[in-house]
Amino acid sequence: MSAIKSILHETRIFPPDTAFVKQANVAGTGAYHALCTEAERDYQGFWGKLAQEQILWHKVFTRVLDESNHPFFKWFDDGELNISFNCLDRHLATQPDKVAIIFEADDGKVTKSTYRDLYRRVCQFANGLRSLGIAKGDRVIIYMPMSIEAVVAMQACARIGAIHSVVFGGFSAKSLHERIIDAGAVAVISADEQIRGGRAIPLKSAVDEALAMDGADSVKSVVIYQRSGKDVKWHAPRDVWWHDLIKDKDDTCEPEWVNAEHPLFTLYTSGSTGKPKGVQHSSAGYLLGAMISMKWVFDYKPTDIFWCTADVGWVTGHSYVAYGPLAMGATQIMFEGVPTYPDAGRFWKIIQDHKVTTFYTAPTAIRSLIKSGPDLPRQYDLSSLRLLGSVGEPINPEAWMWYYTVVGQSRCPIVDTWWQTETGSHMIAPMPGAMPLKPGSCVFPLPGIMAVVVDEAGHEVEDGKGGFLVIKRPFPSLARTLWGDPERFRKTYFPQDLGGKYYLAGDSANRDLNGYFWIMGRIDDVLNVSGHRLGTMEIESALVANPLVAEAAVVGKPHDIKGEAVIAFVVLKGMRPQGENARKISTELRDWVAKEIGSIAKPDEIRFGDNLPKTRSGKIMRRLLRAIARGEEITQDVSTLENPAILEQLQQPIK
Ligand code: WT7
Repeated sequence: MSAIKSILHETRIFPPDTAFVKQANVAGTGAYHALCTEAERDYQGFWGKLAQEQILWHKVFTRVLDESNHPFFKWFDDGELNISFNCLDRHLATQPDKVAIIFEADDGKVTKSTYRDLYRRVCQFANGLRSLGIAKGDRVIIYMPMSIEAVVAMQACARIGAIHSVVFGGFSAKSLHERIIDAGAVAVISADEQIRGGRAIPLKSAVDEALAMDGADSVKSVVIYQRSGKDVKWHAPRDVWWHDLIKDKDDTCEPEWVNAEHPLFTLYTSGSTGKPKGVQHSSAGYLLGAMISMKWVFDYKPTDIFWCTADVGWVTGHSYVAYGPLAMGATQIMFEGVPTYPDAGRFWKIIQDHKVTTFYTAPTAIRSLIKSGPDLPRQYDLSSLRLLGSVGEPINPEAWMWYYTVVGQSRCPIVDTWWQTETGSHMIAPMPGAMPLKPGSCVFPLPGIMAVVVDEAGHEVEDGKGGFLVIKRPFPSLARTLWGDPERFRKTYFPQDLGGKYYLAGDSANRDLNGYFWIMGRIDDVLNVSGHRLGTMEIESALVANPLVAEAAVVGKPHDIKGEAVIAFVVLKGMRPQGENARKISTELRDWVAKEIGSIAKPDEIRFGDNLPKTRSGKIMRRLLRAIARGEEITQDVSTLENPAILEQLQQPIK
């Protein structure tokens, strides 16, 4: 714990501008404190009232929180609702012709879908899924490019009570296979190809490959959306085209009314072990989190043009693309491509063209855009912007300042939102009209979120000291369990060392003397690469699955753009390779990891040794490897090393 010290001494502070405060949903510090006080005074009453106000209930709940089976909490658990009804049907009477989604394709082509149109598409597709025999509780894998159809697929599952599990399109066939098996999926919804940055990336062939692997026979149907028109292999009757499936289907569809606790989705995320965790979310509690954070953190207004750049394959794309904005009745942008194609002005051009008001992206994207065009934003009209957001990793104060001054023209507050796949929605984030900002801090916990910093024994530490970030009380949008593994859920998130009571986020944090939270990084063996979570064990397992590899250890190293780079230390079964041979095997192993997991996990660098440094008890000395990867001076005691020469080997990058 002594290692967890605040390294930041940020003194700049940015109070909200009076005009912003005036129009804000939560206006002024007093309003924020009033909400917090209300939550402290009557926790259940506070959440119960919000759930009544935000959600349309088919059957209203009478109980707010059931904590009897800790930590498997239930919220609003005798209520009934449908999430798709809450996102679509509710707007039909009031704003059917309002644009729900403005989709901009990689090549710039724009397609718009109104609330009425989206409702019809979702109903048709939901009827299509029902015609395939898919019903409430069935698991459906969605492996799709950014598209209106991806949202339609998610909403259609929600409409019929099927549990979706979106797999990011950048994951490999092997990763897809693993998730299909774990979920016991009955169907896969995918596309022929995805197009990003002018390149076509096959999806259907990865689905075929995944389904040809052992144990995937739970899958009865594969629905393919035709994105590029490329020829694909066809497996009738298993495979069906999206356009054929909806052809004769009705454009209304009775929603399946489900219990508040019915699982809306699972989403796989990396942990400290090799096996990804199927984070399972509820229906009502999850939706409430997405909606209330739209209002509090994004200060949502009906006139907004909202743009969250996250892919639907990540939780951010669930809460702030597929569900939150639609439930609020927003107009939002979806973008198929990448920020740097055809050039690094793409984001700024989209903001200008569609008059985006609220822009939410990741620090890694901001850093890469600073690098490739610090002055590009000035060439575009960004005057429509009124609020900026950041998510995925700590934003370094210098990137924050650039975002604030160059993109936001010193006019737009920045909401740095700390949350996780498991928390479902924002936990610690500014209410932009209620509190001054400090660059690099995610500011204060939202009302009703009892976040604190504790030591190893679970005792709250003094402000300014640093420790583990925990949340003391259950909250509606918290994941309910890990799919098929409740014990892992309990052990990972409610560990006995901390008394088993608090939700352990897995991050270290520091609360400064003004109560501002600063996130310092993970406390487990998890890397954060471009805002995505990667388990070091997962990459190590992939490496040792290669026939050449005897042993591997993976660590992170700071990277200017990606936040962290992946460095792998590898021991081969044969001789330690050198020169040209080392280069060749390194390339082979890097490609291997990309194939096993996905290109996001591809090691940036591989170093070979005759051995890995280990303690007497045989544990790999990771701290030492981290120091080696960073080129730091070695301060650890290495006297126990059997073969000190390996340090020299591992310090040598492959040239
Ligand atoms: C981990 C969660 C939440 C959606 C995207 C990532 C890190 C996330 C911040 C932030 C500092 C952050 C944490 C967290 N993280 N947002 N604003 N400041 N760190 O979701 O893959 O579940 O990862 O991302 O380490 O635990 P995820």
